[in-house]
Amino acid sequence: MSGKRVVITGVPGVGKTTVIDASMKRLAEEKIPYKAVNFGSCMFDTAKAEGFVEDRDQMRTLDKDIQKKLQKLAAQRIGAMEGNIIVDTHASVKTPAGYLPGLPEWVLTELHPDTIVLVETDEDQILLRRIGDESRKRDAEGSRSIVEHQQMNRAFAAAYAMMTGCTVQIVRNENFLLDHAIDAMVTVLR
Ligand code: AP5
Repeated sequence: MSGKRVVITGVPGVGKTTVIDASMKRLAEEKIPYKAVNFGSCMFDTAKAEGFVEDRDQMRTLDKDIQKKLQKLAAQRIGAMEGNIIVDTHASVKTPAGYLPGLPEWVLTELHPDTIVLVETDEDQILLRRIGDESRKRDAEGSRSIVEHQQMNRAFAAAYAMMTGCTVQIVRNENFLLDHAIDAMVTVLR
């Protein structure tokens, strides 16, 4: 395996995909080759083909053993990729049965991350972004619950760092300050 593996995480609606897309453009200008892979899309390809779900937002309500199986298959596909890779995913997924680790041992051993990035911002901004994004079926959640999820994600990321020796970086993606988030992300990726 060659190249750098950067796993980018954040609660739904924090804007991780927005920051990744913009950072990819900056990296292309600097001629630094990277491939961005969405872990949820890899899981969804299999979940849809197997008839488990119709849309990606249903995946987190599936039986946890099915979610784990989908995770493992996605991790194997991404783990086999060569070069510098960004993995757009979740430190933890909020399911009806509790927080499901996004990067359990069987995912980490496939991905071998160099760094895990936590994209964060204030809970009220996340809440408003979710309400404004009509393309998705977001879970109804209050700001206290978003605070808890962001705290849990830090705990999960620390555990992943202990297991792999990877570094953990926090990137803030605040309203009207997307450029700052891109600068911070590109610094991690260079
Ligand atoms: P995934 O595809 O990651 O979906 P998601 O969590 O819903 O994330 P989004 O892409 O919708 O949100 P985002 O944070 O990237 O925000 P966006 O850039 O769109 O995962 C889908 C599913 O896959 C999961 O639910 C789970 O079931 C499964 N999954 C994935 N990984 C898994 C794993 N490892 N294990 C198990 N299951 C897994 O931005 C949102 C909005 O904010 C936009 O409107 C945008 O314009 C706005 N915005 C962004 N930045 C700013 C800013 N700075 N200022 C103002 N507005 C902003």
